[in-house]
Amino acid sequence: MPQPRIEAQLPQGREAHPARVAPPCAFVVFGATGDLTRRKLMPAIARLILRGSIQEQFAVVGVARRPLSAEGFGDEVVKAIHEFAPGLCGDAEQLREVAGRLDYVSGDFAEPATYQRLRAALERHDRDHGTAGNRVFYLATPPSEFEDILTGLKAAELISPPHHEPWVRVVIEKPFGRDLATALELNRLAARVLDESQTFRIDHYLGKETVQNILVFRFANSMFEPLWNRKYVDFVEICAAETVGVGTRGKFYEETGVLRDIVQNHLLEVLALTAMEAPNTAEAEDVRGEKLQVLRALRQPWHDTIVRDVVLGQYRGYREEPDVAPDSVTPTFAALRVFIDNWRWQGVPFYLRTGKRLAKRVTEVSFHMQPVPLSLFGREDVCENLEPNVLTLRIQPDEGIRLSFASKIPGFDQMVGAVSMDMNYVEAFGGEPPEAYERLLLDAMRGDATLFSRRDAVEASWRWITPILQQTEAEPPRDFPNYEPGSWGPVAARSLPQRDGRRWSEW
Ligand code: BG6
Repeated sequence: MPQPRIEAQLPQGREAHPARVAPPCAFVVFGATGDLTRRKLMPAIARLILRGSIQEQFAVVGVARRPLSAEGFGDEVVKAIHEFAPGLCGDAEQLREVAGRLDYVSGDFAEPATYQRLRAALERHDRDHGTAGNRVFYLATPPSEFEDILTGLKAAELISPPHHEPWVRVVIEKPFGRDLATALELNRLAARVLDESQTFRIDHYLGKETVQNILVFRFANSMFEPLWNRKYVDFVEICAAETVGVGTRGKFYEETGVLRDIVQNHLLEVLALTAMEAPNTAEAEDVRGEKLQVLRALRQPWHDTIVRDVVLGQYRGYREEPDVAPDSVTPTFAALRVFIDNWRWQGVPFYLRTGKRLAKRVTEVSFHMQPVPLSLFGREDVCENLEPNVLTLRIQPDEGIRLSFASKIPGFDQMVGAVSMDMNYVEAFGGEPPEAYERLLLDAMRGDATLFSRRDAVEASWRWITPILQQTEAEPPRDFPNYEPGSWGPVAARSLPQRDGRRWSEW
């Protein structure tokens, strides 16, 4: 398809990534020897240090059960950076600088002595590295450990009162609960220990540059907003497809499944940003308030509508993955037809699709616009292809925005063809956008909660999805495994949009 050229104009005198700097603080990670710490958190911290967003007065303290010295932890982190962020390893001197900020406390999370050792380490860093008593505690552990850690921190008086210097913030990883009851319980526990302003529920999708750009695209341009509603949009498609399987995460995935792993959090966050009303300001509370309204307006599917509007799948070979039961009924694919019952979106279907081991890695939101009311170019001999306009926000990979429209094909005949205008982030702005975790860790250190999930929103999303979980777990599909790796999921998923005379995008 021919593609007109797009050029980015950056504001004069500004870098594409304006420098944002963390205040002095210690970053404490529980679950320091785990996968998330190695793959995402430590590479993100290293990038922030190398970028200058984290300055001198800073330390990382890893906490985990495994006995390890600070040097041993430093070696592991450097190894992880080599493996997961090889681009950072060019400058050995700088890498040593990262390793020099690392400390380690070993201990059981249920043991009060662990928190006494942690307190001593933090006080040492306040003295030696000027961390000023400010702390971010990051809970990168399985949810079953959250209670011990939060109560341990509280009992050791490591949580200062809210709105108070030095400050304390706690970042809690997903999944935030397993269903509505456990999410409510976890929120009650967090509220006993922390003020909401100190609670940072992380969903790394919100740290993706392209997800943040949904707001900018919608509210910094005047031409799209008038079209952003039921009058002009025929349907919306949100797809998060992965080519990878569950790999070594079988144990986690068996307890989670695709509805808890991706739909309850990542997809509903993207849906809320896509569908929300304009907030009064870009401040955290205004944005989060509008997103909540969308979640509250989701039409609740029950019984027959769940059977009709939710298709689950499991890829062939999942049951042979490590730590997966040979008769597992855990879904690795979900397609859903969702409605938002408000004035803007009444009657517009939102088709959500996500899964592992699919044909292509692609995360996108597509707005399929209504067809023109009357085709002037409908005769077969003149109309090669008259498709409705589609606006696609490409979240990953190949981050960008594409608008497809019809155009006259040059020549004496009245031939119509589809073309697209395509904006690609890397081409437009130069350089890769920062990693999601980088942005979110920095925001937590700076106390900006805009990109973190609020208590009421987390509860609203669980309230909506829990009946779907209950029904599909009580009556799991009998045809699992029902899709081939490298395909687009189970055949039944196709019928979701087809029933309405629409179809999924294809790549
Ligand atoms: C995580 C899920 O939250 O998101 C994983 O637990 C999934 O199962 C991952 O693979 C996808 O994130 P990204 O950033 O790679 O799209």
